Amino acid sequence: MSEASTGICLLGCGIVGGGVVKILTDQAELLRQRIGVRFDIRHVVVRDPKKHAATYPGLPLTTDAHAAIDDPKVQIVVELMGGTTAAGALVERALKLGKPVVTANKSLLASRGPELFALARKHNTAIAFEASCGGGIPIIDALSRGLVANRIDALVGIVNGTCNVILTRMTRNGWSYAQALQEAQKLGFAEADPTLDVSGRDAAQKLAILAGLAFNARVSEADIHVEGIDKLHPADIQFATDLGYVIKLLAIGERDAEGRLTLRVHPTLVHKTDVLAEVSGSFNAISIYGHALGHALFYGRGAGQMPTASAAVADLVGVATGTTQLAFKRLNIYPDSAAPAKVLPFEQLQSRYYLRLTARDVPGVLAQITHALGEHGISLSAVLQREADESQYVPVVITTHLARQGAMRAALQAIDALPTIQGPSVCLRVIDQPKEFANG
Ligand code: NDP
Ligand code: HSE
Repeated sequence: MSEASTGICLLGCGIVGGGVVKILTDQAELLRQRIGVRFDIRHVVVRDPKKHAATYPGLPLTTDAHAAIDDPKVQIVVELMGGTTAAGALVERALKLGKPVVTANKSLLASRGPELFALARKHNTAIAFEASCGGGIPIIDALSRGLVANRIDALVGIVNGTCNVILTRMTRNGWSYAQALQEAQKLGFAEADPTLDVSGRDAAQKLAILAGLAFNARVSEADIHVEGIDKLHPADIQFATDLGYVIKLLAIGERDAEGRLTLRVHPTLVHKTDVLAEVSGSFNAISIYGHALGHALFYGRGAGQMPTASAAVADLVGVATGTTQLAFKRLNIYPDSAAPAKVLPFEQLQSRYYLRLTARDVPGVLAQITHALGEHGISLSAVLQREADESQYVPVVITTHLARQGAMRAALQAIDALPTIQGPSVCLRVIDQPKEFANG
């Protein structure tokens, strides 16, 4: 595809689509100089053209997605609508016509990725999806090309901007959860349905895509253990601070020596000296551990209009210059050509833990708790107890050494059954810096 003018059709002109229009319009000359291509926006499909007419005078707005995709002068289809039903059908339509698709839609790729990649292959075309993970950070490109010589052993990331905005504001500014969520929505970071963000599902969808590429496995959202930040209590943010930690929503994928994967998304205590602890607001960061490179950190704005549009336009350039199609044809890294992931049951996960128990302030209660933990082979790392108020119940905060998730679940069941404990107790996980990074 080397002609001077490349016809494109945009499906969606909201936050991200608007950013793509802005870059293609404002930077048309820079792009022409760099790649020798002029992008011709032939159709912009929206639900309500009247809503957009004043903001984008002269833009070819339409509601007729089929006619837009089928237009013989459209060579690339850019899907920025979101959702899986209508977007999925339109992506299929474009691929069946042999038209390459650029998409930021992690929900669609996490749920139907292998099938859509196979369809693209069948019709001798390609899907480009840099904007689906990490906003403007070129993490898909890094995993597909720059890190291709590495066996990747772990991937640890802050990959949801909305959750990171919420946690940052609650930790640093003392904002309420609702106030911080409102800010993320106002700035255009949150999904149309923000429960996807705060439940951890958006991060899990991104982890499915990233882990698939990193570990050469077919990973689905169902393979991932997911806990969101929607049930996180401000008291735990405060206790974590007192202990020298910051709470972050992490997406973690690890490979063991037998090639089995642990895949999880959950609020995690990260030590304040860990580089991930400093990642704030809508910034994302993804740590990759490759056998040859060691630790590499990919950092940048993970959500929002212009960062995400930056990634989508990079994909447009890759498709227009043919590098995407070539990689798609030659590399065996996409989920349609990978075997299903061998996933270790979550109960077998080894982790350190943070516990917050609500205990009656009576003699012997701490001994009962440590006994229950000891019975399951769990040893304590730190204990924090405050003086009782008039309620006679006190929070007891404990961090532990490494233990299996199954043992911790059983120990917590025993602890919550104690007459001196007001359950359910809070259990979060703690992550340690890998040795290489901790030693500088
Ligand atoms: P918006 O809700 O802001 O925009 C969606 C656009 O798609 C709107 O223009 C809307 O039209 C149009 N649209 C939706 N459904 C239909 C339909 N059935 N038929 C025709 N047009 C439709 O979403 P975003 O721009 O925020 O997100 C788009 C995609 O990018 C999603 O997959 C999202 O997950 C992903 N993404 C978003 C990021 C962000 O920071 N916002 C970052 C990374 C990825 P109308 O305006 O008329 O309603
Ligand atoms: N809702 C997503 C987030 C958008 O907040 O990270 C970027 O994928």
